Amino acid sequence: MISERLQDAINDQITFEIASGIIYKAMAAYFASEDLPGFSSWMETQFQEELFHSEKLAEYVNDAGGRVRYLAMEAPNNDYDSPLQAFETALQHEQLVTSRINNLMMIARDENDFAAQICLQWFVTEQVEEEASFGQIIAELKRIQDDGRGLIMLDRELGQRTFTAPAGE
Ligand code: FEO
Repeated sequence: MISERLQDAINDQITFEIASGIIYKAMAAYFASEDLPGFSSWMETQFQEELFHSEKLAEYVNDAGGRVRYLAMEAPNNDYDSPLQAFETALQHEQLVTSRINNLMMIARDENDFAAQICLQWFVTEQVEEEASFGQIIAELKRIQDDGRGLIMLDRELGQRTFTAPAGE
């Protein structure tokens, strides 16, 4: 059975993942207002990913005999100066998520909770992918700079992304 300390720490992350989703939902609205439907759709998919992360943690707490509790969330930022600024903000946010997941892993290790470590390992790996995908788009945006044609092409490319839950979920 999950300890109260770890349960509370994971509960905090369960809400934080939803709050992360709301940040990306607000970015999707910003991109829609900038007539960048592909960027907007990419962020909508990211919103869905974050809800999936929250659900995955909630399922674990339930399965481990704990109690899921949702907490208050901060309002997201709704305005950005440029696509690059939005993505740089997103990457910084993902780096924060990574440090929070690492912290959960440290608590699970401290408590010799092996099942929780296995669950959290998925998130450790996922965060490597999350940071890489935001970093990749930042690199492309920097290369494009003020080239409108490049931005339109990237918008089309990003619009291809769809959400699919990992196999076995
Ligand atoms: Fe759920 Fe993007 O971290």
